[in-house]
Amino acid sequence: MAAEVLRLGVLGSGAGSNMQSILDAIDAGMLRAEIKVVLADVKDAKILDRARVRNIPCQWLDCAPYKTKLDGEAEQRCIQILREHGCDTVVLAGFMRIVKPPLLAAFPNRVLNIHPALLPSFPGLHGWTQALEYGAKVAGCTVHFVDAGTDTGPIIIQHAVPVLDDDTPETLHARIQVEEHKAYPEALRLLSEGRLSFRGRRVYIQ
Ligand code: GRF
Repeated sequence: MAAEVLRLGVLGSGAGSNMQSILDAIDAGMLRAEIKVVLADVKDAKILDRARVRNIPCQWLDCAPYKTKLDGEAEQRCIQILREHGCDTVVLAGFMRIVKPPLLAAFPNRVLNIHPALLPSFPGLHGWTQALEYGAKVAGCTVHFVDAGTDTGPIIIQHAVPVLDDDTPETLHARIQVEEHKAYPEALRLLSEGRLSFRGRRVYIQ
């Protein structure tokens, strides 16, 4: 069966290295997808520069007055922009805000996130620091569908890395990011190939 070409809308706040890994996978022929638009809630986020270099439509999304969520008028604008660009899948790539039910309802089972920890351990901010401070011996990343909770949605794939005795938050995060850059394109490829199905909250891979 030919893979569906995913029409991605990317939301980010920072460096955009995960988006870059998705672009690289597309370029390498590993993922049938096109990034249609990139939105960032931080005006000078590097993710916007990465989009500009590739001539991908991109813009700053003013999310005021909210600081930690995408809500209200900004959310409506976001949905409208994603629709105008024909997106069918929303990729949260380092987007530091909680998304709310209206966005999820606009793209049912088509909003994905990457989290820098092995969920359900260490949800929320700085998952790698939480793992280190807790004393976990294994850390990693999780790609999951987004639901109305914080990092609670159905898990698609997880990649693990060891926590080393001399790790700092920075070295552990760097090791996790190497896996993130494999896991996100891989999860999107499974989605594009129609290989993901749900049983309850469990995601099965065919
Ligand atoms: C990643 O560690 C991701 O797991 C987390 O935020 C970071 C984003 O990095 N949600 P980047 O902007 O993709 O480089």
